[in-house]
Amino acid sequence: MARTALVTGGSRGIGAAISKALKAEGHNVAATYAGNDEAAAKFTAETGIKTYKWNVASYEESAAGIARVEQEVGPIDIVVANAGITRDAPFHKMTPEQWHEVIDTNLTGVFNTVHPVWPGMRERKFGRVIVISSINGQKGQFAQVNYAATKAGDLGIVKSLAQEGARAGITANAVCPGYIATEMVMAVPEKVRESIISMIPAGRLGEPEEIARCVTFLASDDSQFINGSTISANGGQFFV
Ligand code: CAA
Repeated sequence: MARTALVTGGSRGIGAAISKALKAEGHNVAATYAGNDEAAAKFTAETGIKTYKWNVASYEESAAGIARVEQEVGPIDIVVANAGITRDAPFHKMTPEQWHEVIDTNLTGVFNTVHPVWPGMRERKFGRVIVISSINGQKGQFAQVNYAATKAGDLGIVKSLAQEGARAGITANAVCPGYIATEMVMAVPEKVRESIISMIPAGRLGEPEEIARCVTFLASDDSQFINGSTISANGGQFFV
């Protein structure tokens, strides 16, 4: 069944692959972005997927943006909280600003994205909440105290929402990508990246489309009984 989907951070990286895959499933998709107007315009021109600019760290901007999407595209049935940033630094060098920036975007951003769509999902008795967490929320990561905290927090969010939404036909699940070939991973110093790849049994980085396939599965009407779960897609790098 064709539904309306919102993907935050949906015009680049893993988010872009998710937006495209949901569209290919026949859904009406809206993608948000934070700042890169050029990339968003290019993405819309190439895919026909509407893009909306707001900062997920702001509740006011998120609520206003979501109201606009619901007016222009339709009531949101599928929400993919994907927007995320890194501000990596060893803990002894991590600044309070680096901590707060990542918490505000990656963790509070999930609250800000899901909270405004939740009442409508409850009313319509259907919803799919999918949060893009990370392998580093499962295992921790050198220089990512801030990021790992948010990604572990995502798992607490979906496990709680799963219990609250189940009787209203809403499921909440997480996907934990491992290291995927995106700008975020390419920003890791080459030597460090090579050593990370050597620890992935698959011997390679993942592709964004491999994460998108997990999302389309969780977003489908058929996945109603899958609720509160975590799909790890990391090439065998880490098992929970
Ligand atoms: N494990 C153990 N030691 C490590 C390490 C690791 N993974 N990475 C770096 N170190 C060590 C270095 O060898 C170095 O040690 P020495 O001083 O003895 O040589 C020390 O830690 C680094 O100290 P620096 O003062 O040089 O560190 P820096 O302030 O320059 O920071 C860094 C460098 C930010 C840690 C950089 O190495 C880095 O970006 N590392 C990658 C972190 C990472 O994996 N991030 C994931 C990004 S991808 C992502 O987040 C997506 C996802 O969900 C998977």
